[in-house]
Amino acid sequence: MCGIFAYLNYLTPKTRQQVLDLLLQGLKRLEYRGYDSTGVAIDAPPAGNDGDGDSIILVKRTGKVKILEDAITELCQGAEAEFGQPLDIHIGIAHTRWATHGVPSEVNSHPQRSDAANSFVVVHNGIITNYKDVKTFLEKRGYVFESDTDTEVIAKLVHHLWQTHPGYTFGQLVEQAIQQLEGAFAIAFKSKHFPGECVASRRGSPLLVGIKAKTKLATDHVPILYAKAHRPHSQKQFQLLPPGDCSGAEYQPLEDKQVEYFFASDASAVIEHTNRVIYLEDDDVAAVKSDGSLSIHRLNKSSSDDPHAREIITLKMEIQQIMKGNYDYFMLKEIFEQPESVVNTMRGRVRFDTQTVVLGGIKEYIPEIKRCRRLMLIACGTSYHSAVATRQLLEELTELPVMVELASDFLDRNTPIFRDDVCFFISQSGETADTLMALRYCKQRGALIVGITNTVGSSICRESHCGVHINAGPEIGVASTKAYTSQFISLVMFALVMSEDRLSLQQRRLEIIDGLSQLDEHIRSVLQLNSQVQELARELYQHKSLLIMGRGFNFATCLEGALKVKELTYMHSEGILAGELKHGPLALVDDEMPVLMIVLRDPVYTKCMNALQQVTSRRGRPILICEAGDNETMAHSTRSLQIPRTVDCLQGVLTVIPLQLLSYHIAVLRGCDVDCPRNLAKSVTVE
Ligand code: F6R
Repeated sequence: MCGIFAYLNYLTPKTRQQVLDLLLQGLKRLEYRGYDSTGVAIDAPPAGNDGDGDSIILVKRTGKVKILEDAITELCQGAEAEFGQPLDIHIGIAHTRWATHGVPSEVNSHPQRSDAANSFVVVHNGIITNYKDVKTFLEKRGYVFESDTDTEVIAKLVHHLWQTHPGYTFGQLVEQAIQQLEGAFAIAFKSKHFPGECVASRRGSPLLVGIKAKTKLATDHVPILYAKAHRPHSQKQFQLLPPGDCSGAEYQPLEDKQVEYFFASDASAVIEHTNRVIYLEDDDVAAVKSDGSLSIHRLNKSSSDDPHAREIITLKMEIQQIMKGNYDYFMLKEIFEQPESVVNTMRGRVRFDTQTVVLGGIKEYIPEIKRCRRLMLIACGTSYHSAVATRQLLEELTELPVMVELASDFLDRNTPIFRDDVCFFISQSGETADTLMALRYCKQRGALIVGITNTVGSSICRESHCGVHINAGPEIGVASTKAYTSQFISLVMFALVMSEDRLSLQQRRLEIIDGLSQLDEHIRSVLQLNSQVQELARELYQHKSLLIMGRGFNFATCLEGALKVKELTYMHSEGILAGELKHGPLALVDDEMPVLMIVLRDPVYTKCMNALQQVTSRRGRPILICEAGDNETMAHSTRSLQIPRTVDCLQGVLTVIPLQLLSYHIAVLRGCDVDCPRNLAKSVTVE
């Protein structure tokens, strides 16, 4: 959902060419966040500037980073002298866009600018909801807009403030500007009037600062300085603040002098340069000055427990985790990582020798959770499916009512929430806007908030009272795969923790823990179906539609499999609850329609067999996912994929994998871009 990246070197000489290479590399890492268009801004070489010595070049292209890279190569050709000259200080900002306001085009690409002289340029991830008011205000003052984006108002507003507030620092201008903005943003600015400086801020969209220093950093904390805000952000009417009221204390530099800074939407863009990062909080304004100092400013101290400093944390991520290795696509790599990722989810939590489960992140809250009125699981897309997949087990082991909600619908309905509700927010990215809004809605109403995320430092992580980190490792492919199975396992572990002291459930718990101990091996054997699934994909890829049917513990697999097929192959696909077949979907079945059915030896086996008969008696020719060696079931079809037998509530982890593989192979055969499906982006930070 747009990626932003900025790079600044201080006394670590870099040529323009090197800065551009760094920006392009950062964009490639963030491309999964949006790939409609890209752009960069750097300082122009002396020959290209307009006489005042500080011009900025913008290069923007529609399409993916590769297209921008080709344009930059062309720009640099024959200009080795200008682009190959090392510079002590240089700032570049870059963006990869997922279009919200305005079609994908060069003029709508970021960086957006304040004026034709590129005085202030900005990259933005998010949506400015009051941009029309700001635009009207600026138009009345003579500003002419060139793009259809909401972002252009930000660059022009800062320019206007610069003209009307002489003497303000770059950071103070941005502080003033963000007070006028409503909606969500992560932004990074560059200006020809403030050479060697870069300012960034966020509200609602993620942003971190990476710090790479030649010597040990002088401190593990960057102090926060507070300035008084003029008005709450929620005020609807746009109105400019009186000048001169943004005092702010002195910025505190980091003492290290040879330093490189990065601003990025997420850690994958900086990890090859540094593992030291600060996750910015909403309304932080981070400014790097031309003396190499970094400061973090805030408007108004939000609460008494707001710390006085932002911690510089050390990331545990490894560069290999965000590389494709020998795989053609991240998605395929991530599917094949699942034997390890599920083990990582359980590591240190499930003890197979003592058959116990401990979730450190929620341990202290378990007594409170046990007393709750109901459990609510709230999420979007694939993460929502992990809630559907585990609901039955949660009901069984917690003996509590469990509600499963799509975050957007939950908010649309103003769903009643009570102080004794426990609300789980499941999100791979931890930044999905709908899920985050739902979290804030429940928190305001006094519910206990539990985050289930894959991204350390994400908004959902930070805003939850407690939670489980699923530890699946970075997921780069836009289509979620390994995060799903790890979310699934995290919720199963939670159910096991909740039932620890229930004598009547001990046998069931032991059978599940035993299933978990074999899960990696079972996943490995399912992955061996890969070439068989590829064969099947050859048979199916030219069809228009694919129906996926099942029930009980495997209904979620049908929904998730159909979502994977839709998003990757652009084919129509529907996950159908087999119990609903005769209430409508059966009309779709004939000898042409591809149907995949999950029929396992579990409590709903007989009912699934009924559905299978209904399909075959309408001349349907279902492809089965069934248990290895189940000849009786296989006799009903000419094609089947056999998976190992496991405990019923864990089957969904195994049945989803052939569907992940199937959607992958169909997408490849149809010539689709597997890691970057059209119109989509990972981490949906707009509502
Ligand atoms: C589908 C997919 C999406 C996400 C959804 C929520 O493959 O990835 O449906 O699951 O956008 O994202 P997170 O989990 O980051 O909140």
